[in-house]
Amino acid sequence: MKGLILSGGRGTRLYPLTYTRAKQLIPVANKPVLFRVIEAIRDAGITDIGIVVGETADEIEAAVGHGERWEVQITYVHQDEPLGLAHAVKVSQDYLENEPFVMFLGDNVLQGGIVELVQQFRASDWNSQIVLTRVEHPEQYGVAELNGEGRVVRLVEKPKEPPSDLALVGIYMFDPHIYQAVAEIRPSWRGELEITDAIQWLVEHDYKVFPYIHRGWWIDTGAPAAMLEANSLVLEELVPSVKGYVDRDSEVDTRVTVEEGAEVINSVVRGPTIIGQRSRIVNAYVGPFTSIYHDVVVENSEIERSIVLENSTIRDIPARIQDSLIGRDVTLSRSPIKPKAFKMNLGDYSQVGIL
Ligand code: TTP
Repeated sequence: MKGLILSGGRGTRLYPLTYTRAKQLIPVANKPVLFRVIEAIRDAGITDIGIVVGETADEIEAAVGHGERWEVQITYVHQDEPLGLAHAVKVSQDYLENEPFVMFLGDNVLQGGIVELVQQFRASDWNSQIVLTRVEHPEQYGVAELNGEGRVVRLVEKPKEPPSDLALVGIYMFDPHIYQAVAEIRPSWRGELEITDAIQWLVEHDYKVFPYIHRGWWIDTGAPAAMLEANSLVLEELVPSVKGYVDRDSEVDTRVTVEEGAEVINSVVRGPTIIGQRSRIVNAYVGPFTSIYHDVVVENSEIERSIVLENSTIRDIPARIQDSLIGRDVTLSRSPIKPKAFKMNLGDYSQVGIL
């Protein structure tokens, strides 16, 4: 069995962060989402993994390499344009050969991994198995309808009247019949080859499609609010450790991870929170559900439930920063120059909320 991770796409919902970086490399609790996906597949006993890449191929290849770090073999599959999830399967056919495979969206985080799913599919004679989870607002998702035997009979995208509350999670198991399906379907109204249409094709041609009902949390990190939510959930599961330096004047609670070379000086840090390598927290408050990545400085400032990426500096900010996603090499500071005013140098699509 092989693994296929979809890591192309444009990531428009995460602009401006994803103008300059692949969204799958944004860290959640200081580890890129894509690394978490690779680990989930490896933990299910699959070591031959293909990654579909697009415009951000170079960055992804530089970060992941050939997979030695995880003791897996990574192969890159280039998709010239993000023409849909089913299109990504189509371009991967040569790599996948005739093996069954698990397809995992590279921006999804799932509690508990996929060991049981892969075991179930291996032990079955099903043609496809799709991961579903119960959601409160099925009208916002792709939704599956099951029959009395528990088999999938229909998939509908964002239905006004949902046939169930079972939404599609971005993880699917397929056997080689999927290639015929992706060859037969036509692009949708948004111009993409949809994986839901390919699965619907399998159902209509009497192939066996069964669900796997996932019971933990699952987050598609495609939008900023979801990224912060995923960060909070993963931080809650992190086993804390303090490898950096915390001075005697600081108050750091038990659910805080301080990585190597990080320093916490005269500050209060409340967990679950992670402070990355070589970052400095000085005269500051870092509240719960915050991930501070590498080489960041937070000084004379307060921050809570946020993600700060590498090399950024937050200094002398008079109000608490909350629910924020701050990119790489960002400087947030108070300017000594008069008149007293907000001076900003923001990239396209930046969003700033001011009291
Ligand atoms: P999406 O989140 O559906 O699409 P996107 O990444 O283009 O994001 P946005 O809507 O914000 O512009 O994609 C889900 C995952 O699949 C993501 O990791 C990107 C990947 N993907 C591909 O690899 N190829 C594709 O053709 C598409 C559409 C997505």
